Amino acid sequence: MQFRYSDVFYDHFTSPRNIGRPTGADLCGEYVSGLCGDSVRVYLDIEDGVIKDIGYNVCGCSVAIAAASLTSELLRGMTVEQALALTDEEIADKLGGVPDDKIQCSFLMHSAIEDAIKNLS
Ligand code: FES
Repeated sequence: MQFRYSDVFYDHFTSPRNIGRPTGADLCGEYVSGLCGDSVRVYLDIEDGVIKDIGYNVCGCSVAIAAASLTSELLRGMTVEQALALTDEEIADKLGGVPDDKIQCSFLMHSAIEDAIKNLS
C-alpha cells in the first residue's frame, strides 16, 4: 500500500517555518547524515535553560524539511531537557506519520540540536 502524507506534513514541507539564523541565536549545531549525506545546521537562543528562539538551514529530503520546520515550532519555549527528551517517533507522529525508511530523516534536526546543546556551558 502506498504511504499517504498528512496535511500537517504538506503544510510544513511547502511552507517551512523559522528558516535562517535569528538575531541573538549564537549557539550553533550541525548534523550530517551518515546514511544520505543530508544536513541541518541549527541556531539556538537559550536563556536560563529555555529555548527562546530557534532557526535552521536544512539540505535534505521532504521529510527532513517538514520535520525541521515542525521541530522548530515544538522546541520554542521548551527547556533544554525537554528538547533533548524528544524522540524521532514523537516528531514523526506529530507530522502524521512518515514511512518507516524515512524515520531517520525526521530526526536530522534533532540531532543538530543535540550537537548545539553539547556546546552549552
Ligand atoms: Fe537524507 Fe531524508 S534522504 S534526510
